[in-house]
Amino acid sequence: MRPRRPVFVDVDTGVDDAMALAYLFGSEDAELVGIASTAGNVGVRQVCRNNLGLLALCGVTGVPVSMGSATPLSAPLRTAEDTHGPQGLGYARLPEANSELTTYDAAEAWVRAAHAHPGELIGVATGPLTNLALALRAEPALPRLLARLVIMGGAFDYRGNTTPVAEWNVSVDPESAAEVFAGWNGAENLPIVLGLNLTENVAMTPELLSRLAGAAGSPSTPMSAADARGTVSTASNPLIRVLEDAMRFYFEFHHDQGEGYLAHLHDPLAAAVALDTEIVRYRAAPVDVELTGTLTRGMTIADWSRRWGREPNAVIGVDVDPAAFFDRFIDRVGAFAKRLG
Ligand code: BDR
Ligand code: CA
Repeated sequence: MRPRRPVFVDVDTGVDDAMALAYLFGSEDAELVGIASTAGNVGVRQVCRNNLGLLALCGVTGVPVSMGSATPLSAPLRTAEDTHGPQGLGYARLPEANSELTTYDAAEAWVRAAHAHPGELIGVATGPLTNLALALRAEPALPRLLARLVIMGGAFDYRGNTTPVAEWNVSVDPESAAEVFAGWNGAENLPIVLGLNLTENVAMTPELLSRLAGAAGSPSTPMSAADARGTVSTASNPLIRVLEDAMRFYFEFHHDQGEGYLAHLHDPLAAAVALDTEIVRYRAAPVDVELTGTLTRGMTIADWSRRWGREPNAVIGVDVDPAAFFDRFIDRVGAFAKRLG
């Protein structure tokens, strides 16, 4: 068995964030040392409820959950209930929390976790980067303290999903994304950045979801675009039921966008890469965020041809093996769900 590595995750849970958390819960090579909640897909209090509810559902104890800022650094908050459902988890209902939030906030949680595991901590950010930017203001040595940072955000040489050019996580809080990238200027250990150009290659389908249910010992009939909207899962397994009810909403959203009855697993890919970097191919580049464009605010730009004269401050995912990802995802989450019965 591979050694367990400390992992700290910052999420705006969110259907695919929930799938990322399930992946980390089910990964025996990860020791989850903290969850930061950030405002994004839904408001920050709801994100906290979702994180605590998922821990309760999965019987995971001892993982501190911290609340982040209720708003981005300087922009007003936008949320995405159309994509993730009124509470962020599609049609799923989570149990009430059986643990409390930390007394310190999410930015402090980042700094505490980095100091507790200097040079060892793997950070994963799958929401707007507000907490991480605030953590970096408090502890500018964060890039040296982390062993690895994986960010789901941006879109490189690829259209946006929020504006024609901007991806959601960056678009919600472009100033924080810009601060985070600037914070890694000159660092040795560059963050891995997975944008839509990469994550949209990872599409969950009804067939793959059925494979997951099968792996959990809780077989289910594949969902279909012809099903009545909001049809609830009949899976006997509590985690599979929640994931299916959440995914159905996400499938319906993607279907309505003309993308097919499927859903992109942006955030679970980041969780998987945090533990196994080799499922993605990368290219380093200087990266920055457009903050002032009248049409392009929130756009992420990679200066591949080095016209800015700057050194790379990020390693950008450019190719992924989706089959390798899904094999890992189904193995880990399926076996974890099975243990929950
Ligand atoms: C990102 O936006 C959110 O809605 C998802 O959870 C993911 O982190 C994709 O653009
Ligand atoms: Ca997210």
